[in-house]
Amino acid sequence: MHVTIDGRSLYVETHGDGEPILFVHGFPLSGEMWAPLVPGLRDRHRLIVPDLAGHGRSDPAPGVTMARFADDLLAALAALGEDRPFTLVGMSMGGYVAFELCRRRPDRVRALVLANTRAQPDAPEVARDRRETAGRVRREGAELVADGMLPKLFGPDAGDDLRERWRAIMAATPAEGAAGALLAMADRPDSFPTLAALTCPVLVVAGEHDAITPPADATRMRDAARSATLETIAGAGHMSAVEEPRAFLDALRRFLAGLPAPR
Ligand code: MLT
Repeated sequence: MHVTIDGRSLYVETHGDGEPILFVHGFPLSGEMWAPLVPGLRDRHRLIVPDLAGHGRSDPAPGVTMARFADDLLAALAALGEDRPFTLVGMSMGGYVAFELCRRRPDRVRALVLANTRAQPDAPEVARDRRETAGRVRREGAELVADGMLPKLFGPDAGDDLRERWRAIMAATPAEGAAGALLAMADRPDSFPTLAALTCPVLVVAGEHDAITPPADATRMRDAARSATLETIAGAGHMSAVEEPRAFLDALRRFLAGLPAPR
């Protein structure tokens, strides 16, 4: 379904019934990346799967920031009548958005899953490159980032079908959406203080072959959190939920099973 936020349309899917889980995708991807997990979770959970502004089927938000992405998600939850604390799953840029949500509404986050992401901000030269790429994307389109990311996105065993499918999804991202997200990522703050202050349970998921957010980033997050478990998905690259959905689901289920009962 589409919900309207500040006159913009945001696409959000819901599946199943039960304790809510909010899934936040990476850049320049879409909620589609969580589809392989839905059948294994929908019996016991209400899965809320948005496309972030300017990605998938959602309109871009001019001047978007991590805070805007996070506020959109809170508005989408309100529009869906969902006011319970939720388990928050963020992949890569979705992890950056998840940290922002934790800063804004820690009371709503019952548990946090940080998949293939990092807590540190961009180094100055990385931020500079992102800003430069944003300008090029506005002129040339998101194919530029699709082609740049594709060689690093998957582990060595991912098939050509998967690579082609996700190249097409990335390339179809509206140029304004991809450029806005690049600028938002370049401006994001250090999230280590946020992570260290969190009192909810945290699961960190790494891909053994992740070349974008390497396993060392995951170890740093596990070590910085008060209470975190680290699961490494064997054989997977940056897209661990897509590449190895069975192993990702098993890790997530183990984590969910260990959560204290909701109050
Ligand atoms: C992502 O997968 O969301 C991005 O690659 C994250 C990033 O570029 O920092």
